[in-house]
Amino acid sequence: MKSYSAKYLLIGIVASAAIFILDAQLPLGIADGMLYVGLVLLGMMARNRSLIIIAAILGSALNLLGYFLSPPGGDLVQVITNRVLAFLIICVTAILCLLRNKADEKLESARSFLETKVEDRTVRLKEANQRLNKEAEIAGLVKAIAMASNETRAIKDTLHFCIEKVSQFADWPLGHLYLKAEEPASGLIPTEIWHVRDPGKFDVFQKITGNTPLEIGVGLPGRVLASGEPEWIIDVTKDPNFPRAKLAKNIGVKAGFAFPILIGQEVVGVMEFFSAKAVKPDREMLAIMGQIGTQLGRVLERKRAQDQSEVSQKILRNLYLRLQEVREEERTRTAREVHDHLSQLLTTIKLELSLLDKKLSNYSSEVKESTQQLLDMSNDAIHSVQRIAMDLRPPILDDLGLSEAIEWQVKEFKGRTGIGCKFFNEMNGLELDLERSTTLFRIFQETLTNIVRHSQATQVDVKLYACEENINLQVQDNGCGITEDQIQNLRSLGLLGMRERAMVWGGFVQITGAQDEGTTVTINIKKDGNGENEGEN
Ligand SMILES: Nc1ncnc2c1ncn2[C@@H]1O[C@H](COP(=O)(O)OP(=O)(O)OP(=O)(O)O)[C@@H](O)[C@H]1O
Ligand SMILES: [Mg+2]
Repeated sequence: MKSYSAKYLLIGIVASAAIFILDAQLPLGIADGMLYVGLVLLGMMARNRSLIIIAAILGSALNLLGYFLSPPGGDLVQVITNRVLAFLIICVTAILCLLRNKADEKLESARSFLETKVEDRTVRLKEANQRLNKEAEIAGLVKAIAMASNETRAIKDTLHFCIEKVSQFADWPLGHLYLKAEEPASGLIPTEIWHVRDPGKFDVFQKITGNTPLEIGVGLPGRVLASGEPEWIIDVTKDPNFPRAKLAKNIGVKAGFAFPILIGQEVVGVMEFFSAKAVKPDREMLAIMGQIGTQLGRVLERKRAQDQSEVSQKILRNLYLRLQEVREEERTRTAREVHDHLSQLLTTIKLELSLLDKKLSNYSSEVKESTQQLLDMSNDAIHSVQRIAMDLRPPILDDLGLSEAIEWQVKEFKGRTGIGCKFFNEMNGLELDLERSTTLFRIFQETLTNIVRHSQATQVDVKLYACEENINLQVQDNGCGITEDQIQNLRSLGLLGMRERAMVWGGFVQITGAQDEGTTVTINIKKDGNGENEGEN
């Protein structure tokens, strides 16, 4: 603005000198003084009140001086009138310019006032917008976590998802979950649940954390466990109560915050987040994390229930397994007793009776008839005993293996029920261990019992085959077909038992049926490994 006025001042001085010289050269009476109005206009162009006044005073003075210095000539009255008129025009122009200048100044100040207002409003609008965005982000985070908490996906995945969301929201690169130790132990144990934005960057710290369980009150998570409130450390490397910082020279993290995961009032876990830089506490963030901790409590509540249910399921499965083992042992023992002792005893009785029969050949026919009856009865008894022993535990299973035992059972089934039955053995000589063979054989017997009892089938096809890791036994009948309700019914204890037996070997039983088109039962178990609980049902 200053240089702007100076420029006009310079132009004004040059112009006034030029006008004055011109005025001094021309005779009196010519209205040269009028030209000084230009100086005033220059002041107005410069938007400078002082320049207008100076121009008016200078123009008037030079106009007056010109009267004395300009060459004589013309009528005196006219000359004086011209000079006075010039003086008046300079003054009027100066006044008008001053008024215009004042109006301009007012306009300018009104404009700058408006501009400040607009700027102020824009800033406030921007702040409100930012606040709104932040609130929307918080609401989004809380909603995402609430939804994840109620979803039925695996608990580990839910916790991973939540830790990742919080990490992204806070824009902190590292997040980890500590869980409360199971009773009777106390304190916190580290988990495998991490969110790491730059893999590899925090390896040292992660390794230390993995080996550092924390007692109540110790370290950042320990403090949260003690207080039940979110906590913040600006720089963990300078904190006297952060043991993990003391285990390595450079752990790669500085600021940390953590919040409790609560079931009611009980802290069941602590989520901790770290940044590579020192960061001052953010109260708002801590308050939000408090809310999220309560939401996450639901996930851990579900985990707790799931763990308990898994434990009881495992106990039940083990009991069932033990029951089957005991039953099998008992059956084998009884079958052996019956076969070895009772059967031998009956055979001896039969031999003795035959000898007696020969010795009594000279006696009456009545006695002979009686001994013959006794011989027939002992024959029947021997057959019954052999059948009972076979039913209890076919020795063929122990002696020749699964394929032969199924072959024998198929023949027995055909003979006993009159239902057609074919066996396709595709094992190509592969032998299974006795435990697996027993499981498959017993499930097979159960399916045959079901076919006789429920299917009204006329034909059954049995196929035994091996895949890369599994052994499959497929039993297909052409009966009335099983319904989905019957398959899923929890009271179908026979089917449940079949599934339980298969699960022991990491396997499953698949049952399908279509009305009047028959039922197919496929038993699948792992070829090797102990298999326990590896399977799905
Ligand atoms: N091959 C089949 N064809 C048609 N229906 C079948 C067949 N196998 C099973 N089902 C149906 O499935 C139901 C459940 O079978 P499951 O073996 O569990 O029980 P169950 O044979 O009735 O009794 P149990 O506990 O003594 O075995 C049967 O009641 C029957 O209705
Ligand atoms: Mg049954």
